[in-house]
Amino acid sequence: MGDLEDFDHAFIQAPEHRPKLALSDADGIPTIDLSPIFNSVPGTDFPHHLVQQIASACTEWGFFLVVNHGVPPEKRRRIEAAAREFFGQSLEEKRKVRRNEWVVTGYFDTELTKNVRDWKEVFDFVVEDPTVIPASSDPDDTELTQLVNQWPEYPPEFGEICEGYVEELEKLGHKLMELIANSLGLPGKRFRDYFKGQTSSVRLNHYPLCPSPELALGVGRHKDPGVLTVLAQDDIGGLEVRRKRDGAWIQVKPVPDSFVVNVGDITQVWSNEKYESVEHRATVNSKRDRYSIAFFFYPSHSTIVEPLEELIGPQNPPKYKPYSFGKFLASRKRSNFKKLNVDNIQI
Ligand code: SIN
Ligand code: FE2
Repeated sequence: MGDLEDFDHAFIQAPEHRPKLALSDADGIPTIDLSPIFNSVPGTDFPHHLVQQIASACTEWGFFLVVNHGVPPEKRRRIEAAAREFFGQSLEEKRKVRRNEWVVTGYFDTELTKNVRDWKEVFDFVVEDPTVIPASSDPDDTELTQLVNQWPEYPPEFGEICEGYVEELEKLGHKLMELIANSLGLPGKRFRDYFKGQTSSVRLNHYPLCPSPELALGVGRHKDPGVLTVLAQDDIGGLEVRRKRDGAWIQVKPVPDSFVVNVGDITQVWSNEKYESVEHRATVNSKRDRYSIAFFFYPSHSTIVEPLEELIGPQNPPKYKPYSFGKFLASRKRSNFKKLNVDNIQI
């Protein structure tokens, strides 16, 4: 048990949450070919079989892979390369663009998920929107007006590369929401207005080599709060999804050039729980470090999130009360900062 003595306790998961050999996804998480969406006539509904695939993936898994998704491969490769260059620098360099109490974007290496420290370092950026207004007159909400990025000096063009990537992911996010709308029996554009002045963001993740991967997690179990998450994972693997039918952890095997999509809490509420936001986590390993890029598709922060009126009725009463997404985001950011009490530990 030498590891336990040497290994920083902040990272140690309770025994029941330590990663075990997860089941493979061989019979599991569906892969959906999106090429039909680029061949459909604009303004018409998508092909029925595609909509059906989305409906069953969202119902059974809350997760699916997409291929032929329309995101140019070179844009993905550029941001992947830029992330490696950025994280390859010294901690001192990286901390020059460190997230702080005033600027919620940038670098940080200290995040707790369910009170255990994640074995990772990240760089966050947002889809900048100078028109964003505070959700309320509560002075604490003013941080939402600061949808601005801090870019590092190195690698050069980091900002442009990141912006080029997120532009493509937004397009994919809108297409996926059109498909999801159709799969719920709604017109394709049903969700469009919620994304005027969206608050989407991207997180570059780096999971360094871990001496005790059996004790720690790159990201502890959690659900995503947004509408959708679209993840580019590299070829190492580590993402695990909680299978709805039995609660088993299932590995999401890396498939080159694919994205992993999962529905977040907002889609769960909009669909009145027809589609559930599913728990997932990321394991780490001692042989190869791992990178992933998560695009979090968020609505505008003035959005009041509630079950869609078309989907509720006497037989299906709303399962959620309305909440303000802006207020939710602001309170989450505040509580994250309060939890950052292990600031100087280095990974
Ligand atoms: C996350 O869910 O936050 C990241 C998952 C991953 O890196 O695989
Ligand atoms: Fe996540």
